[in-house]
Amino acid sequence: MVEIELKPEEFALFRRYIYEKVGISLSDQKTTLIKGRLNKRLNQLNMPSFRAYYDYLTNDVTGEELALFISAISTNVTSFFREAAQWVWLEKYLPQMIASKREKKIRIWSAGCSSGEEPYTILMFLQKHLSDFESWDIKILATDISSKVLGKAILGIYEAKQVESLSQEIILRSFEKIRTPSGISYQILPILRDKVTFRLFNLVTDPFIFTNKFDMIFCRNVMIYFDEKTRNELIGRFSTILLSGSPLLLGSSESLTSNRETFKLIGSSIYQRL
Ligand SMILES: C[S@@+](CC[C@H](N)C(=O)[O-])C[C@H]1O[C@@H](n2cnc3c(N)ncnc32)[C@H](O)[C@@H]1O
Repeated sequence: MVEIELKPEEFALFRRYIYEKVGISLSDQKTTLIKGRLNKRLNQLNMPSFRAYYDYLTNDVTGEELALFISAISTNVTSFFREAAQWVWLEKYLPQMIASKREKKIRIWSAGCSSGEEPYTILMFLQKHLSDFESWDIKILATDISSKVLGKAILGIYEAKQVESLSQEIILRSFEKIRTPSGISYQILPILRDKVTFRLFNLVTDPFIFTNKFDMIFCRNVMIYFDEKTRNELIGRFSTILLSGSPLLLGSSESLTSNRETFKLIGSSIYQRL
């Protein structure tokens, strides 16, 4: 692999572009990270310089290169039942949410869903705690900026080591064992997969046009790279599409620094829409 240099003026171009496109603000210290993570991609594309790659990236109208670029500089790390304390909190919250419903209809958004573990965990959780799960009209919207992770999420196939922390009860109820070239894997059952709509969606630039307000919004470990202004704007937009009294769940290292008039802290990185 050829080692391509990233000049300061090239880094400045990427920094501005990435901020405008996805709200990620890169500090000067990130030069080495960008160079390291993107060198492989430049080599794959036979690009002679970062400037040439910048032109390629910014002229790609499909958005595919942007998705690859984001994947290269951010992380898609996720897992089933991540942020354990929040699921304990949700167990207590669920009966009260169910009791307040006039229709047997639940709408939840997993914003920044990565490879699908989060939206499928929501369904496994509801399947376990709603005795009449089948009779509910449940729809999970699961979105991400990366088409690569969404492809994996749609298939819903996970390796044995990704499901090993789950109880046998959940594995039996939610997955089927399948044989893949790499060995035994586990695929989420169609009855659960059918309840999730996966969509490519940029949380910073795409308009929020939804027919229903949501009963919950999960946006966990997504805003870590965003600067404060972008974070606050996004939270403000979430407030317009979340039902009053409903929770917004963030990652455990994330918190709200503004929007206090619309959200109140009620659990570990869980905020209630007032
Ligand atoms: C670390 S993963 C978190 C996955 C899951 N929410 C969790 O907590 O396990 C962050 C995800 O956010 C996505 N992401 C980053 N910026 C985004 C943006 N502007 N719009 C939509 N998704 C974005 C990334 O592609 C990545 O899959």
